[in-house]
Amino acid sequence: MKITLRSQYPANQIGFPGGPVELSWKVSGANTELHQVAYEIQSALDADFSVELKSDQSKSSASQFVKAPHQPSTSREISYHRVRIETQAGWSDWSNTHIHEVGLLDGAELLGVAIGDTSKAEDPAALLRITFTISKPVAKARLYATAHGTYDVMINGAKAGNHILAPGWTPYQHRLLVDTHDVTNHLIEGENAFGVLLTDGWYRGKMSFFNMFNNYGEHTSFLGQIEIEYEDGTSEVIASDSNWKTATGGVRFASIYDGTTMDMTMAQVAWCKPGFDDSTWSPVTIREINKNLLEPLSAPPVRVKAELPMTLRQEADRVNLDGPQNISGWVRLTVDGKRGDKVVVRHAEILLPDKTLHTAPLRAAKATDTYILGKDGVQDLEPKHTFHGFQFADVVTDAKVIAATAIAITSDNPDRGEFTSSHVLLNKLHSNVLWSLRDNYVSIPTDCPQRDERLGWTGDAQAFIYAANTLVDENAFFRSWLKDLALDQFENGKVPMVIPDILELQHARLPNGAPFPDDGTAGWGDAAVVIPWAQYQSFGDIEILRAQIDSMRKWVDYFSSWCKDDVFPADMMQLGDWLDPDAPEDKPFLAKVSAQYVASTYIVHSARLLAKAEALVGSKDNIEKYNELADRVSKATWSQLGDAARKTTTGASLALEFGICPDSERKVVAAGLAELVRKDKGAISTGFLGTPVIMDAMSQNGHLEEAYSMLLREEIRSWLYPITVGATTIWERWEAIQPDGTPATGGLEGHAEGSEPSMISFNHYAYGAVIDWVYRNVLGLTSLAPGYHQVSISPRPTKSIEWAKGSIETGYGKFAIDWKTEGDKLEAKVTVPFGVEAKLNLPVTEESTILVDGDAKLNGEVLTHGVHNIQVSHAAVASK
Ligand code: BGC
Repeated sequence: MKITLRSQYPANQIGFPGGPVELSWKVSGANTELHQVAYEIQSALDADFSVELKSDQSKSSASQFVKAPHQPSTSREISYHRVRIETQAGWSDWSNTHIHEVGLLDGAELLGVAIGDTSKAEDPAALLRITFTISKPVAKARLYATAHGTYDVMINGAKAGNHILAPGWTPYQHRLLVDTHDVTNHLIEGENAFGVLLTDGWYRGKMSFFNMFNNYGEHTSFLGQIEIEYEDGTSEVIASDSNWKTATGGVRFASIYDGTTMDMTMAQVAWCKPGFDDSTWSPVTIREINKNLLEPLSAPPVRVKAELPMTLRQEADRVNLDGPQNISGWVRLTVDGKRGDKVVVRHAEILLPDKTLHTAPLRAAKATDTYILGKDGVQDLEPKHTFHGFQFADVVTDAKVIAATAIAITSDNPDRGEFTSSHVLLNKLHSNVLWSLRDNYVSIPTDCPQRDERLGWTGDAQAFIYAANTLVDENAFFRSWLKDLALDQFENGKVPMVIPDILELQHARLPNGAPFPDDGTAGWGDAAVVIPWAQYQSFGDIEILRAQIDSMRKWVDYFSSWCKDDVFPADMMQLGDWLDPDAPEDKPFLAKVSAQYVASTYIVHSARLLAKAEALVGSKDNIEKYNELADRVSKATWSQLGDAARKTTTGASLALEFGICPDSERKVVAAGLAELVRKDKGAISTGFLGTPVIMDAMSQNGHLEEAYSMLLREEIRSWLYPITVGATTIWERWEAIQPDGTPATGGLEGHAEGSEPSMISFNHYAYGAVIDWVYRNVLGLTSLAPGYHQVSISPRPTKSIEWAKGSIETGYGKFAIDWKTEGDKLEAKVTVPFGVEAKLNLPVTEESTILVDGDAKLNGEVLTHGVHNIQVSHAAVASK
């Protein structure tokens, strides 16, 4: 039996916040009849557990988010944790030792001052440097660092750590993150150089469709220190202070939207190495970073996820670079040229029919990296502190382009789901959704990675959350972002449309200074409730509910307070079922279903979820309060606006999924929905809010056939159509590329002068929400209790999918299936993790028999952990 232990924080990282270490463990290799009856957790200050802090024994089967008996509360503390479990066979061996290192808990422990230069937005990047001498053996060294702007710390010529775009994007006026790195191996005896490359980043760079600068302040600055512990027990701190020097070098310009300009003839070669002559450098300027707002990073940072070779196509005046995948990141280019040669790299998501870059969807984002070579010969070029959403690029240069690699970055959430099947297009859909997730989780969950936006749109994150939870473990990522949501939430409870709420900050600085025109938007603001609940469902993380319950209440109280006669008013601006394909191209909010109906149903939905959360972590009175609100609004919505459920696919789907229509009417509403879908031959007719729920609305209510007709449709307005014209990610609009290869224009006016009139990204994940349905219905891996503590085995085969296999890496272990059909015979091999019960929910007809490991079983019966072979005769196989 093997026990694998982890905490709520990302692996391969150090320097976490103080407070509880929540431990989760997976058990593998245990006999099927064994189960956990008790656990024992030990915490200690050394790896041998000789200085045991506390030991905790509990007669419990719990194994997820269990608080360690010792809760670190001191900065820098390293604690060791391990667990063993008791089964009917006695106590197991100890698990692996989980090492937990705390960061700096009090910003004042950063002893230095924030330092920068006198630059303005879009000026050349600042280089900062100091040297120090080490004269005795180093036992251990840590770097603690943060900035207004984005930074790389360079020690003796090498970058400390592999975080990209540090310190990430948070509402900097409320919270600024400190990264911790083990830099022991960076230090050398003798002179050492501590350097910083500092650029505008989200702090001061051009952001949002308002294309405004200085969003959080006019000055960039760095605050950090290296703490050295020597082998002789003494220690030393090298902090950012007035002794540092500054200059500019090769990075002449660095912007998240526009790209970088690097003039390597101006590079200060070896500027971050010892021995460099900085006598011409200027003293740094002291700036202010509020140390009370500092917090250790608790989510995974942005890192490089993949390096994908691009192919070169030589044209008369340029070299085209074709990548295999639409990504977020940049091109690493290898060129052979001469000092002074210029190299210009532009990026785009798709090619026009004439094979040139389609840059109009970027709007005002220039997404162009420019280099001036600093030396002769073969050299690699990579930009700094920018990222582009692209699959294709072109290069204009006199140098010879030798090779190109697309470097894909993402917030480094561990992969969780795996899926393959006999259906090639469905497999590609899965891949496209996963890539849209990666490309759009860049420090925060964004809408798109390419145009002058890349903002934390709450509605996009909300619509996609269950798919995200199935594909990756982003619980730490969302804990952090939800914290920011609560910080940016208005006093009155309104949840902004983007988190961090840069739109509000920018609007306040516009000439009229009026607040951003938004009184709360259904499906967007509801992220405050839906996402914490989804995290609890998908990961069993009850702490996230505890942390967010006030924010959840504030939103529901606020948004429901607009109701008149118990429904949301008709005259308030809403985004509604955004991007309904039948809405006018330039008015994506004008969906077939009324925004009033959508908002009313979301009030019911969020109030019900909140009531459930109240039952777990809140107050009894509130359970009643929110259930009563939900019932009241639900009733009124049905009686006043229920027509929407009969006339529109989104209306029907929301009525069924959010429990708006009375039980007695469900059949009729579902039949009406199925009829609408049949009439349209499975074409998608829903927008951002209808699409994530329509598949369940059909399949849960007896219309699996129609659900499959939609999922597997290949004509335009479908999930698979884009793949037939080359999509490698999920598009913002269903008809973004016509069958003849011409791109649609998207219609919306850009907000910035000179920007293209277009809102048409080829990388928006919201419609990828369907992949969660695929895991539950095509694969048949369904969670019945928070965190997959109880699951059901629920494949729903259909004729054109002959086999499927895949898994979800749950907190308990891998929940996996591998099934195939032969005619109406279904065979499946299922792996149920230790600590999980699996209910049979197999696709049966009246004649079916079910055999599990040779024994006859019935649907509803429960399997224990282990590997099971299942056979179903006369299985129900859908006809699509
Ligand atoms: C974004 C969306 C977002 C919407 C709301 C768009 O520009 O890309 O995905 O939710 O605006 O207004």
